[in-house]
Amino acid sequence: MSGLDRTRTAPILAPSLLSSDFSRLGEELEALQSAGLEWVHWDVMDGMFVPNITLGPPIIKKLRKRSNLFFDVHLMIEQPERYLEAFADAGSDMLVVHAEASIHLERTVSEIKRLGMKAGVALNPHTPLDHVHYLLPELDMVLIMSVNPGFGGQSFIPFTLDKVRELAREVTRRDLSTLIQMDGGVSVNNAEELIAAGADVLVSGSDFFGHPPYPERYQTFRRAMDKGAGLAV
Ligand code: DX5
Ligand code: ZN
Repeated sequence: MSGLDRTRTAPILAPSLLSSDFSRLGEELEALQSAGLEWVHWDVMDGMFVPNITLGPPIIKKLRKRSNLFFDVHLMIEQPERYLEAFADAGSDMLVVHAEASIHLERTVSEIKRLGMKAGVALNPHTPLDHVHYLLPELDMVLIMSVNPGFGGQSFIPFTLDKVRELAREVTRRDLSTLIQMDGGVSVNNAEELIAAGADVLVSGSDFFGHPPYPERYQTFRRAMDKGAGLAV
């Protein structure tokens, strides 16, 4: 059981395309959809906020035509406010910006919503929850990073679980519907514990894409996640 009073909806798995085959992105998206997934996680990196560089709006826009999945777009870029329109135009459903990368975060969040997207804020492992305290009612999702962003395949940082527990208590206390997402080092082995701690959405890159076939891998995650949420399995 979750140990929380919050009414739990079925937890969501969002595979991170960072660990997919970039030369076959269209096919990968189709394979996720036919495996029964509903969300997909895009990691956008600029070589400044994080050391790595990945992809941007033109690629997402092209792939939007190939997929009905919910596009959860994680911006690991400096001053994300410069690109909100471009990501809206590309067909992003949810735009998640880092609190550390945007000085006028309230304005950035309002703008994301004005452009018709869901809005999320990500916190690096060491960033206190205070950064989203006042914004929480405006947010569709808070992403608690469980690794330092930039690369797939890193080890889960255990203290981030305390942040999830604390945030889940706060969301419940204030009777909000803000989703809690965790990203980094998520696996079938810790999925149950993360959901039980209060996470609603888990991102998985290497542990999902590294173990095909996707329908079976998704079901393995599903069982662990549903168990963590106290749902019948
Ligand atoms: C890391 C990215 C993650 C990454 C997770 O900066 O934000 O989405 O793909 O990869 P794994 O699941 O392999 O830790
Ligand atoms: Zn991510």
